[in-house]
Amino acid sequence: MMGRCYHSVACIELQHFGGARISKSLVFLLMDEPTQSAHARAVRSYVTRAGRLTTAQQRALVEVWPKFGVAFDSQPLDFDALFGRRVPRVMEIGFGNGDHLASLAKAHPQCDYLGVEVHRPGVGRLLLAIEAQGLTNVRIMCHDAVEVLEQIPLGSLDEVLILFPDPWPKKRHHKRRLIQAPFVALLAGRLKIGGVLRLATDWQAYAEQMLEVLEAASGLTSLAAHERFMPRPAERAPTRFELRGERLGHAVWDLAYRAS
Ligand SMILES: C[S@@+](CC[C@H](N)C(=O)[O-])C[C@H]1O[C@@H](n2cnc3c(N)ncnc32)[C@H](O)[C@@H]1O
Repeated sequence: MMGRCYHSVACIELQHFGGARISKSLVFLLMDEPTQSAHARAVRSYVTRAGRLTTAQQRALVEVWPKFGVAFDSQPLDFDALFGRRVPRVMEIGFGNGDHLASLAKAHPQCDYLGVEVHRPGVGRLLLAIEAQGLTNVRIMCHDAVEVLEQIPLGSLDEVLILFPDPWPKKRHHKRRLIQAPFVALLAGRLKIGGVLRLATDWQAYAEQMLEVLEAASGLTSLAAHERFMPRPAERAPTRFELRGERLGHAVWDLAYRAS
């Protein structure tokens, strides 16, 4: 299966792009599945959606990815090498179509942003936004964020954003929800002391679960009054899922926790 995908997709791309040499990471990116490590976990927080890549997104994956894309590797991530400078570092997990991340990166050129997303059309769209807006402070990984976090050195992030993670509403799917105690413990360790984790959801039952998990997590302190929910940050550009929830009449619950 892997051999077939590799061959067919890589050949198509080579034809499209005049036989240009493409890197190993790019070949994986153009395959049907996002990259997976040898020890693939049984329960994942996502399913690979079949979404088609537009021609523009395909071009971006071939031409723009080599500059801003980061291949998953079993070695620790070296942020200094990745960005070539030391400024506040923000990670967005599950950036979806990337519009929110692009607007954030544009508004804060003094910060660097690592976006992690498994949905390739979203990755392609963010690459197009980076190119169109001339952004230099964004890097992208197309890989499971859980495995990415494992490669991030302890205490290296100033902020982590997880906006409208998949709510997995059916009870039998709750185990797929990203915000669970082991994940939060993994994430909390990657924040600097004083670093902030921000979450939002439009699914009340998931909001309550987030609250329960985060209140029980060691080394995280709520920024909200009475350890409940936060007002929606005025500076947050609405994400695609937030707008969709708004159209459906959903409320939004925001949470923020500081690492101590
Ligand atoms: C409901 S969508 C929200 C997207 C975006 N944050 C928004 O608000 O529009 C959740 C996104 O998280 C991504 N995702 C889920 N689990 C992930 C994981 N373990 N690693 C990386 N991305 C993940 C999915 O592919 C999906 O695009």
